[in-house]
Amino acid sequence: MSLLLTGIGLLATQDQSAAQHPGEIADAALLIAGETIGWLGPAAQAPAADDAIDLGGRCVLPGFVDSHAHLVFAGDRSQEFAARMTGRPYTAGGIRSTVAATRAASEDQLRANLTRLAAELHAAGVTTFECKSGYGLDVDTEQRSVAIAAEQTPEVTFLGAHVVPAGIDRDDYLDLVCGPMLAACAPHARWVDAFCEQGAFDVDESRAVLEAGIAAGLRPRLHANQLTAGGGVALAVELDAASADHCTHLSAADIDALAGSDTVATLLPLVEFSTRSPYPDARGLLDAGAEVALATDCNPGSGFSTSMPLAIALAVREMRMSPAEAVYAATAGGARALRRNDIGRLAVGLRADLTVLDAPGYLHLAYRPGVPLVHRVWQSGREIPLGPAIPG
Ligand code: NIG
Ligand code: FE
Repeated sequence: MSLLLTGIGLLATQDQSAAQHPGEIADAALLIAGETIGWLGPAAQAPAADDAIDLGGRCVLPGFVDSHAHLVFAGDRSQEFAARMTGRPYTAGGIRSTVAATRAASEDQLRANLTRLAAELHAAGVTTFECKSGYGLDVDTEQRSVAIAAEQTPEVTFLGAHVVPAGIDRDDYLDLVCGPMLAACAPHARWVDAFCEQGAFDVDESRAVLEAGIAAGLRPRLHANQLTAGGGVALAVELDAASADHCTHLSAADIDALAGSDTVATLLPLVEFSTRSPYPDARGLLDAGAEVALATDCNPGSGFSTSMPLAIALAVREMRMSPAEAVYAATAGGARALRRNDIGRLAVGLRADLTVLDAPGYLHLAYRPGVPLVHRVWQSGREIPLGPAIPG
């Protein structure tokens, strides 16, 4: 079956390599052929198809790629957020309260929570999301977390090194993470991550965890430089991590290192919003030539939002990214941060992952912040019904 989408006011392909149709096509059409894109170009040249839908002048983008999210957990930390808003700083220690709630939850509860958040992500235009463990922090609950995540996404990350949980010696916990916990989780995961930060794990500890993960066949990514300008970014670059995430506190050397590497700087402005922190230096990164991605970091502690559109609006308003740079970072940039070539751009042969905005252009994502502009979403050529979130 083929489906022709016509009446596309603006098709923002993010395909900078396309000589014929660089980046943006006005008055466009796009042919979905099975799971992939069969054709795209000016509407006047569109081929015949089995079926057609007129999108009435709306803007079409690649589905957003959310390359950083923590979605397997139970419990609520809204009181921690309230305390922050009266002046208490965010610290890594809050993670332990979610660990207690997650360990106490049943597998069905954790699955239902993830399903509800995945529905929110789809309604926000996300067609691929990464999902980390890291709220179990014992072998059974970490394994359960990655297994549940793997039911919903291929981009599963083992984050046993989130913090040292209560009741275990630090060295013993690191041995557990790099030994039995990794062995139990690696079959369900593609990535290994660590929270390299004051109050979590130092550079040497993080290196040991990532190297153990690499030896077990996982690929590295790293929480780096969120609360302090430590050595996380340098470590991510040293290990050719796909991504260094947060990058809130960067030195000039960090920016140079990222610019000279294949490690994407993944910026998470919903966290700076929720923790009332300074926003990362997106301009410095982009002007130096670093690859930048935007992601939600949806988690119960430092930022509980699934809204890629709001992340884009913050990147434009607060971080001085242009709307085009922000949309690229939320699509093609996210794909780079997951080392994926089949998503994040619209081109013939790539996966038919599309987000249709109820707006004539993507500028409206920043111009109309907080307004639900996602109109329809296709993932691998199939339309995702965007209902209200499933009660969980
Ligand atoms: O990415 N930084 C580490 N992990 C999460 C927050 C975890 C939490 O506070 O529950 C983050 O911000
Ligand atoms: Fe995170």
